[in-house]
Amino acid sequence: MTNNRIATVRLGATGPEVGVQGLGCMGMSFAYGPSDAGESRATLERALELGVTLYDTADAYGAGENEKFLSPFFKAHRDEVVIATKFALSIPPDDPTRRVIRNDAPYIRQAVEASLRRLDVDVIDLYYMHRRDVNVPIEETVGTMADLVREGKVKQLGLSEVTADELRAAHTVHPIAAVQSEWSLFSRDIEPKVVPAARELGVTLVPYSPLGRGFLTGSFATAEDLTSDDFRRRQPRFTGENAAANAALLAPVRTVAEAHGASLGQIALAWVQQQAAVHDLPVIPIPGTRRPSRVEENAAATRIVLSEEELALLEPIAAQVAGDRYADMRFASAGRE
Ligand SMILES: NC(=O)c1ccc[n+]([C@@H]2O[C@H](COP(=O)([O-])OP(=O)(O)OC[C@H]3O[C@@H](n4cnc5c(N)ncnc54)[C@H](OP(=O)(O)O)[C@@H]3O)[C@@H](O)[C@H]2O)c1
Repeated sequence: MTNNRIATVRLGATGPEVGVQGLGCMGMSFAYGPSDAGESRATLERALELGVTLYDTADAYGAGENEKFLSPFFKAHRDEVVIATKFALSIPPDDPTRRVIRNDAPYIRQAVEASLRRLDVDVIDLYYMHRRDVNVPIEETVGTMADLVREGKVKQLGLSEVTADELRAAHTVHPIAAVQSEWSLFSRDIEPKVVPAARELGVTLVPYSPLGRGFLTGSFATAEDLTSDDFRRRQPRFTGENAAANAALLAPVRTVAEAHGASLGQIALAWVQQQAAVHDLPVIPIPGTRRPSRVEENAAATRIVLSEEELALLEPIAAQVAGDRYADMRFASAGRE
């Protein structure tokens, strides 16, 4: 089993060595329809056996439920796992269905305490600002996050969906270890500005939704295939004519997959992993899955190397994708660049 372990890479300029692929844990409690808790737990254990050590959650995933669900696994393997969680999507007391972005100090202070309590750990290894509240200067937000480092509540800092300018401003206050943003064969809007800024500053890129929220695996072709509570039913890329047009874009992925005897998802993951070499910076994708067999398949993708010809075949896909990656693009850095 251990000879299947994936390669490692440093997280941030001074952080720990972690597996070159992490695990997105969101779907275990939130967003992608019903989950089986036993199968999710087996997935976590199998991931660790394979050398996947960076585990990604957020306080917003299931309003704290995801952090609570992961807590026993983290406690059992505290020295082996690197725990990443996030703050910023607050739940207003008068309407639990809404989310309000908060980056102010009082909010961050209560959020970190709540995450530490739910995770039942003394320190969070990587603490991200999940979304940007443009009403609070980023220097102020990162100043508060830096205080948490000095107080020993948090080890490293990360930012999700920030622009290049926001990243540069933040980095003057405290080193940023990681930027987490959507990056996949379908979503490449961070490449012109955010990726070069990260490379220049020594920041690790953590691509989320590297499988295009599952669409790049071919496991669903339209929102109609998903359960009624699935978040993806409201995403522009997966509905109506957009879904049909986007499914047709998988043809070159299929061609490359056949050449490697690999799945579509493995080619999507190999492509994003290979962006580390293309852009010369550390890249740690965090595909999300709740199934042990899929974590094996995904981890194995770290060993696939695509040729220049294959990269060229995949190159035109992103520019042809129909529909934005969010219904409201202010949620994404590209909406503010
Ligand atoms: N910072 C942010 O704003 C943000 C936003 C979104 C997500 N995230 C993080 O990034 C992580 C990953 O993103 P994501 O979950 O949205 O998208 P993703 O990793 O692109 O895709 C996940 C979907 O793909 C399916 N899947 C995974 N491996 C598969 C395989 N080998 N074959 C077929 N299907 C497969 C999963 O289903 P099963 O689970 O049923 O296997 C799930 O439906 C999340 O878990 C979360 O931690 C962060």
